Amino acid sequence: MEPSDQQIIISVRDLVVGFGDRNVLDHLSLDVRRGEILGIVGASGSGKSVLMRTIIGLVPKREGQITILNTDRDTASAEAINAIERHWGILFQQGALFSSLTVRQNVEFPMREYLTLSDSLRTEVAMTKLGMVGLSAQDAEKYPSELSGGMVKRVALARALALDPKIVFLDEPTSGLDPISAGEFDALIKTLQRTLGLTVFMVTHDLDSLHAICDRIAAIADGKVVVEGPMKTMLASEHPWVKAYFQGARARGEILGEPSSVSGPH
Ligand SMILES: Nc1ncnc2c1ncn2[C@@H]1O[C@H](COP(=O)(O)OP(=O)(O)O)[C@@H](O)[C@H]1O
Ligand SMILES: [Mg+2]
Repeated sequence: MEPSDQQIIISVRDLVVGFGDRNVLDHLSLDVRRGEILGIVGASGSGKSVLMRTIIGLVPKREGQITILNTDRDTASAEAINAIERHWGILFQQGALFSSLTVRQNVEFPMREYLTLSDSLRTEVAMTKLGMVGLSAQDAEKYPSELSGGMVKRVALARALALDPKIVFLDEPTSGLDPISAGEFDALIKTLQRTLGLTVFMVTHDLDSLHAICDRIAAIADGKVVVEGPMKTMLASEHPWVKAYFQGARARGEILGEPSSVSGPH
């Protein structure tokens, strides 16, 4: 059964995005459904980050239509665009925190930009968000250089949640984390999605994340979505790249560099 339009929170149609004489995305179409965790996969350089950045308006498109929360950027008023921008949170691939600001100040940053709150209320909200991602009041006064990789990602996530978003965009959120921290971060994303009713658009190459938390997956190749669906659809795909990725050696856990004797019988 086709989901009704009301369940579609982001709709991308025939999107063309390019640089110079090359189109990275070539008539790509994709729907994101309300409340789902959608994983975006594809070879390095296939345009995953470009797709995310185009949806949020950081990269111009050449053709096509993008509708978010029933708002089309091309025809929407500045107020309407501002309103949808307040309804999303973003964790970039190079999700650097401001190194000169404390953890708390980093989380307060979007609130300063978009909301008029008293200092004490803003701090209170920031501390609540930090609590939601498992960080303490002590962590709040630390600087980014004092944090582990996993903690930096958590702060970046708390900052993405600062404005109570409906949609969260995550670009490779677990890259650079060890497998245990990555697994904990995945669990956190899943918990937040459930408790806050978030819709999550997650670019990832982490097969564990894809298995553990994604409701659906969209694979990008040749500038298009070539396969889209739950994990079982990916596993059944005959598309050469999708097949190699999901059924290849890396899909069997060796991606973590663990010999099977350590990870135990499968
Ligand atoms: N601002 C830019 N200018 C020129 N080329 C770009 C720009 N951003 C991305 N690209 C190119 O677009 C392609 C897709 O990049 P990207 O979306 O970052 O890939 P990935 O799927 O690994 O996230 C790459 O070939 C990249 O070099
Ligand atoms: Mg990328």
